[in-house]
Amino acid sequence: MSGSPFDQTEYIERLNEHYARRDTAPLAFVATYGCQQNVSDSEKIKGFLEKIGFSFTNETAEADLILINTCAVREHAELKIYGNVGALKPVKARKKDLVIALCGCMMQQESVQNYVKKKFPHVDMVFGPSLLAEFPKMLYKVIFEREKIFSRHEISEIVEDLPVRRDDQGKAWVTVMYGCNNFCTYCIVPYVRGRERSRKSEDIIREVRSLVENGYKDITLLGQNVNSYGKDLKEGVDFSDLLYRLNEIPGEFWLRFTTSHPKDCTRKLIDAMRDCGKVCKHLHLPFQSGSSEILRRMNRHYTREDYLSLVAYAKEQIPDLALTSDVIVGFPGETEKQFEETISLIREVEFDNLFTFIYSKRNGTKAAEYPDQIPREIQQKRFERLLEAQTPICKKKNAVYDGKTVKVFAEQISKTDASKVSGHTETGKKVDFTADESVIGNIVDVEITKAKTWFLEGKIKQ
Ligand code: SAH
Ligand code: SF4
Ligand code: F3S
Repeated sequence: MSGSPFDQTEYIERLNEHYARRDTAPLAFVATYGCQQNVSDSEKIKGFLEKIGFSFTNETAEADLILINTCAVREHAELKIYGNVGALKPVKARKKDLVIALCGCMMQQESVQNYVKKKFPHVDMVFGPSLLAEFPKMLYKVIFEREKIFSRHEISEIVEDLPVRRDDQGKAWVTVMYGCNNFCTYCIVPYVRGRERSRKSEDIIREVRSLVENGYKDITLLGQNVNSYGKDLKEGVDFSDLLYRLNEIPGEFWLRFTTSHPKDCTRKLIDAMRDCGKVCKHLHLPFQSGSSEILRRMNRHYTREDYLSLVAYAKEQIPDLALTSDVIVGFPGETEKQFEETISLIREVEFDNLFTFIYSKRNGTKAAEYPDQIPREIQQKRFERLLEAQTPICKKKNAVYDGKTVKVFAEQISKTDASKVSGHTETGKKVDFTADESVIGNIVDVEITKAKTWFLEGKIKQ
């Protein structure tokens, strides 16, 4: 990083000296909302904080710095953030030198920054996603120059080699591209994450190689639409080429990726998944709606038939493939018949798991201006019917695992039963299993003893 205009070394050193004068190490509380990209961004900010001398806490009351990394995808999540920020007012009143920082997608919006400025004077720093590369500089200004930061500035360059403090042992997120060019009519992401920017393939390969050498086993490649990878570079390397190259890195590890847009998901990518032993046989392919007319109004650039034919090819090439998807109900103008097309699509495809969303109107997007918004009660009913249709499919898909022995990446102590370890199969199925916690961070053999609707239970195979 040194020599780069984004070099933060000096700010980190000054902040480090500042906090080192205290009797105890400073503590940071970091909360993350939204998708894996946000989880990955938070790990980078935590990397900076660690370099500045911070340790971490789960209690806001004992924190010297509180950072909330926000998501803008749905209105409900935004309202929740405002509630949380409001609740920090008395915490700040008790501790004058506490720094409160808000970042992430929601904070890239001008209307949100204005609202925070007006309603929450106890907040010190507000900035959007790309500015995290200058986090130490901003914190320096807050602490030494008593400035408040409200910035929507976007750094379009990709800043490599930021420090990272990874949350999970053996598991890593690797962003391959930032931003999105698709402008699906319901979605705020292109407005808050900027245009598509791909990392150079050599930087990605170098990072993955170093992760594998350091014992990482479960590596997820991230991008809003990974299938657009490389289109903005002049390397002539597309996402499938990248997978083939990463697959050649020696060592035992799994490569996952998310998200794939059906319009750019090529047969070549499916072939790469089939051919690369280290690439997990799990495809997350959001379809959003089973109606071609709604898909057109969503600006998705594929039809129901295109989607089904792609899925048929994927199932044919990779018979043990797990398929998951995102779907939105109650999009403006969605008729009962069009909603039924969504139900019929999920019955036809039989997804292993489905992330279901009620359409949420996002100001600034095209669909927010569509006149035919669907009443909340109808949206809710459709949402419930969708879940009802998907539940038996999840049950059936999981039942296949009963009695089988499968490879599982062991992630953490189970949140529901502290005597168990929790992890994921190559196909993305959650498994709670009896094992010693020393297995965490490794890929292990697990015998499935009970298949439940939403997860599997098992025991480690000795
Ligand atoms: N880039 C990814 C997903 C980004 S957002 C992709 O294209 O698949 C994750 C999911 O949130 C989307 O797939 C969509 O199903 C849902 N979503 C996005 N905007 C939404 C909105 N305004 N209302 C409801 N759901 C939304
Ligand atoms: Fe949003 Fe569509 Fe981009 Fe995904 S592809 S982030 S849904 S605009
Ligand atoms: Fe949310 Fe931003 Fe991710 S809006 S879904 S955190 S890209």
